Amino acid sequence: MPAGSVSAAPIGVFDSGVGGLTVLKALCAQLPGESFVYLGDTARLPYGTKSAATVTRYSLKAAEALAEYGVKCLVIACNTVSAFALPAIREHSGAVPVVGVIEPGAEAACRASRSGHIAVIATEGTVRRGAYQAAILKLRSHARVSAQPAALLVALAEEGVCNGAIAESIARYYLAPLFREDLPGSPPDTLVLGCTHFPMLADAIRAVLPPQVAVVDSATTTAAQVHSALATAGLLKPAGTAAGAGAPAVRFLATDDAGRFARVGSRFLQRPITSGEVELIDL
Ligand code: DGL
Repeated sequence: MPAGSVSAAPIGVFDSGVGGLTVLKALCAQLPGESFVYLGDTARLPYGTKSAATVTRYSLKAAEALAEYGVKCLVIACNTVSAFALPAIREHSGAVPVVGVIEPGAEAACRASRSGHIAVIATEGTVRRGAYQAAILKLRSHARVSAQPAALLVALAEEGVCNGAIAESIARYYLAPLFREDLPGSPPDTLVLGCTHFPMLADAIRAVLPPQVAVVDSATTTAAQVHSALATAGLLKPAGTAAGAGAPAVRFLATDDAGRFARVGSRFLQRPITSGEVELIDL
């Protein structure tokens, strides 16, 4: 493919479901001239409770499917996939840059934390893998990382129970062990939302946290890394070739139930998605 037509190609974005739409939103804001193909593997969600081998197998299938759309860059907008399968996806993607969400999340946390004690809530898989722990310690070797799996928050975000007593009580259930006052040393001063579903619950989470704790997620930093990866590879879409005024062009792919993807996804992306815009694919 000539260089010009590669830079006009879409950016592929992948998550186990609709959670990655919180990352797509940041990508659209920072790269308004680009077009995107978003794949949510809704038939297999959740990934967060599955083994490394299964997550890797599913993710490679998804990466292959997105490659068929000629994507010029692949954004792994899922912490669990980033934790388990990034090296395998990179190996299979050849020259196509692959950007995950864990390193950007760790970078945002290290920037926000003064004390160096950082708390992380994520899926069981991401915590078990120690992915944030490793990424944070790589950037800040004296940091202390306290991580807690918080699987029910995925279901709450999918159900749209994002505010109010139920969301706050479940958030408190997961956060209390991280912020207990009788723990040795100073409590965390930063909380990483280490799952792309969790930004939907940010208000409920903030409501039960000590007020001085900074809450960060990966979305904005990931979008900045994608911008810089594309710029470095000479793959940014040239000015003047944008799809048109307004929101960037997005093609939505799901592996199950276009109607549910559209309904729940509209909340995550904070713009309407119609079920007619969602193509069902098989992996
Ligand atoms: N969005 C996924 C993540 O960031 C979690 C959802 C799931 O368990 O599949 O880890």
